[in-house]
Parts: sequence; C-alpha cells; structure tokens
Amino acid sequence: MSEKINYYRRRYMRRIALLLVAIVMLTSVVVCIVPPFRHADGQTAPVFGGKIPPGYRDWPLISVAREKGSLNDIRAKLGNDVALEAYRQEKLPFPDGTIIARLAWNYVPSEENDKAFGDFQSFVAGSPKEGVQFMVKDSRKYASTGGWGFAQFNDGKPTNVAVNSCFSCHAIVKDRDFVFTHYAP
Ligand code: HEC
Repeated sequence: MSEKINYYRRRYMRRIALLLVAIVMLTSVVVCIVPPFRHADGQTAPVFGGKIPPGYRDWPLISVAREKGSLNDIRAKLGNDVALEAYRQEKLPFPDGTIIARLAWNYVPSEENDKAFGDFQSFVAGSPKEGVQFMVKDSRKYASTGGWGFAQFNDGKPTNVAVNSCFSCHAIVKDRDFVFTHYAP
C-alpha cells in the first residue's frame, strides 16, 4: 500500500518539476520575442547623434515665456548664430543649420526678492524641468517633419521622443516655419 502511495507521490513530484521547467522556458521565450518598448509612431530621434549640442547654454536669448496649468514653469528659448541671424533679418523659412533650444524651470517664489520689493510679488527660475528641447533645421534630412529635427534631453541624456507628436503640435504654426517663439527685442 505505502509503495503505491510513494509511486503516486514520485509521479506527482515529477509532473510539478516538468511544469516548472515549462514555465521557465515559456517565460524566456516571451522575453526574447516581445520587442522593447517603442513609441507608437515607431520613430526614435537620433538628432545630434544623441549628444546635446555643446555650448548651447551660452547661446543668445530669443525670448522667455511663462506656462501655467500642468506645466507651471518659466522658460527661455535660446538660438545658435544661424537662428539669431534669421530672427533679426526676419527671414523665413529658417535656413539649414538653425538650432533653437527650449529650457524650462520650476516657477518658484523668491522670499529674498519679495523682502527687497516689500511685497509678495517675485517669482524666479527654480530647478530645471521638462528637459531641454531642441529643433534643428535640415531640410533634406528631416523633410518629413517640415525640415525640422526634434529632440529632447533629460539630464543631458537623449530621450526617445515621439517626433511626430512634437511635429503635429508645431504644425499649428506652419506659416511661421513651425516655430512658435517670436524674437523679443
Ligand atoms: C502640445 C503642443 C506641443 C508639443 C507636443 C510640443 N511642442 Fe514644442 N512648443 C509648443 C509651443 C506652444 C511652444 C511655444 C511656447 C513655449 O514653449 O514657450 C513650443 C516651443 C518649442 C521650442 C522653441 C521654438 C518654438 O517653436 O517656439 C522648441 C525647440 C520646441 N518647442 C521643441 C519641441 C520638441 C522637441 C517637442 C517634442 C518632444 C515639442 N516641442 C512638443 C508646443 C508643443
């Protein structure tokens, strides 16, 4: 009798072992087959070869802006020499080689400034947020997105931005060569 029980027990244990092996094999197959996450439009943006343009932080100022709502930031647009020249000459479309950068910071009150002004009125740039965004003009390379390459860097590292989402929103200002920002004299 006990031999029979042992026989069934061994059979049962063997089945469990086989089942475990099958689960492990199946899991590894799934891991290998499922492709890494990609944006819906399938585009990655190897703009600037994935490297943030050197020296961009020292580029001249085009303008500043304040966004409320969920962004709630304070931001600046900088441009390289080609961009600034085109802006000053009011030249549209922007020539190849134009690069425009968008930086953004938390919008924070400044107690120190308020004390100086004697009123609760001062807000300044806090820590950086929403990465640094770039638009670079290369009318042949980026022909499918209005001649502009779009890129975003978070903490200096390129992000896998869905270029089409940048482009489709910027398409609102197609008549200004897809650029929202006006030059602030
Ligand atoms: C929902 C619409 C929208 C989307 C999506 C969007 N932008 Fe913009 N972008 C704007 C608006 C509006 C401005 C001007 C306001 C601002 O930022 O001060 C702007 C400004 C910019 C500027 C400064 C030049 C300009 O056009 O004024 C750059 C550079 C930029 N965006 C890059 C990007 C990149 C890169 C992406 C994608 C990762 C992107 N944008 C996605 C709406 C959008």
